[in-house]
Amino acid sequence: MSQTVLVTGASSGIGQAIAQLLAERGFKIFGTARKPAAATSGNVTMVPLDVRSDDSVRACIERVGPIDVLVNNAGYALMGSAEETSLDEAKAQLETNFFGVVRMVKAVLPRMRKAGSGKIINIGSLAGITAIPFGSFYTASKFALEGYTEALWHELRPFGIHATLIEPGFVSTPIGDSTQVAAVPLAPYDSVRQRATAALGRHVKNGISPEAVAKTVLRAVQSRSPALRYRVGTDAAWLPRLKSVMPWPLFAVGVRRTFAV
Ligand SMILES: NC(=O)c1ccc[n+]([C@@H]2O[C@H](COP(=O)([O-])OP(=O)(O)OC[C@H]3O[C@@H](n4cnc5c(N)ncnc54)[C@H](OP(=O)(O)O)[C@@H]3O)[C@@H](O)[C@H]2O)c1
Repeated sequence: MSQTVLVTGASSGIGQAIAQLLAERGFKIFGTARKPAAATSGNVTMVPLDVRSDDSVRACIERVGPIDVLVNNAGYALMGSAEETSLDEAKAQLETNFFGVVRMVKAVLPRMRKAGSGKIINIGSLAGITAIPFGSFYTASKFALEGYTEALWHELRPFGIHATLIEPGFVSTPIGDSTQVAAVPLAPYDSVRQRATAALGRHVKNGISPEAVAKTVLRAVQSRSPALRYRVGTDAAWLPRLKSVMPWPLFAVGVRRTFAV
């Protein structure tokens, strides 16, 4: 019998590519969007989900039924200096990118534990290993996902459940369309914030394809014993290694050049 996979945030970008590839490979795929445009998209059954809401998560999990693989992909980016970002904006970023994952994991675990099997695949980011200047809370959400998933790996192993992080570098998706910028800017940050935001937009535009991330997710789904971490793209493969061996001031020069800060 084909395995059931739930992919959050399957209306766009990486989530859409994951859902499509896995559906083509014969998995039974449910994809989510806050407002699905149609009940199906190709071979993907679309289900409404807002990861910020307990009720929405409960309804989604009930609708889908037993899940073999959960892919936590839903997320957005928030840009602005840490000082400019209000606490509400920062909390909202963590609410979707981090607590959204936590909510989904808590919802699927009771069944997976009883079944003695399951896979939880969290879409992290290179930003979970090296910070994006002027994206401090996006960065914080992805660093949080790193620690959380690593702890989950240990806790779920005895139950036959695998926790995995996918860490892509820049990926060419429409993420810029939903990127939020701190609402109350401070003039001293204006020019450098604008440069950093523009640089991020350029890197995303020139990033790898979402299909490359989807192929890596497929590998993890098909593996009997998936790894804790999969890095996708040359930047994601090399920058963490450089960060661990280079003196910080030198590594920081590279980051500052990358983001024009
Ligand atoms: N693009 C990159 O360079 C890159 C690199 C590394 C990691 N990532 C990560 O990859 C994931 C997908 O990003 P993407 O680039 O594919 O962005 P995207 O094209 O903007 O897709 C984001 C998806 O998340 C969904 N979403 C947003 N808020 C949601 C919420 N509250 N509840 C449920 N779904 C929600 C959106 O669905 P609706 O708006 O239809 O609800 C959409 O399907 C994110 O976690 C992102 O951090 C992206």
